[in-house]
Amino acid sequence: MDEAILKDIFMYGSYAPTHYMKEPWNINLYQEKGRVAFVDAIIASYQRIGMLKKDNDAKTVKVIDSMSSFLLEIPHHALIYFKKEAEAVRYEEDYAAVCAFIQNAQLAAWEYGVGMLWTITPYMHDAGFAADIGLDSNEVKIAAVMQIGYPQHVGRDKGRLPIEEKLKIITE
Ligand SMILES: Cc1cc2nc3c(=O)[nH]c(=O)nc-3n(C[C@H](O)[C@H](O)[C@H](O)COP(=O)(O)O)c2cc1C
Repeated sequence: MDEAILKDIFMYGSYAPTHYMKEPWNINLYQEKGRVAFVDAIIASYQRIGMLKKDNDAKTVKVIDSMSSFLLEIPHHALIYFKKEAEAVRYEEDYAAVCAFIQNAQLAAWEYGVGMLWTITPYMHDAGFAADIGLDSNEVKIAAVMQIGYPQHVGRDKGRLPIEEKLKIITE
């Protein structure tokens, strides 16, 4: 994918609301050969937290191979992180701004015909994974990993509940 398109997508993302203009989002974009060490770190994390076995049985090797191939078929992985704030309100503000950034980027991606799947997976909470990719989990919070590429097909519109079920109008 043209790098200029990805830059545009994240640029539009960055018009998200941000308290104190902190713009807390940071993006590590893994693509081409850059994905290999990233995917290795994911597999190592899944093994560490017990989602994948560590032995060399043929079955284990097969499961790991298929998981690696699946992840390496995704052209771009954007890991979104922000600096942790000790104070809860500040932390929430930054996480909220980062989430707005992510959704803005998704909407921009849609305009370019680019698919961007928001994922939250267990390795994001594994300090060893953060260390493997050069981040200190005491310092930063990984908010999401966006899986990016041109979609072979677009999923069905899942619809949403009628907004009346969520909306309470209070007039007095
Ligand atoms: C915080 C968050 C985490 C998500 N994590 C995943 C995920 O790990 N895997 C996945 O397939 N979709 C994930 N999604 C996407 C939702 O599954 C998706 O938005 C939902 O099914 C509605 O589909 P739609 O957005 O196409 O309408 C996540 C969405 C959010 C907001």
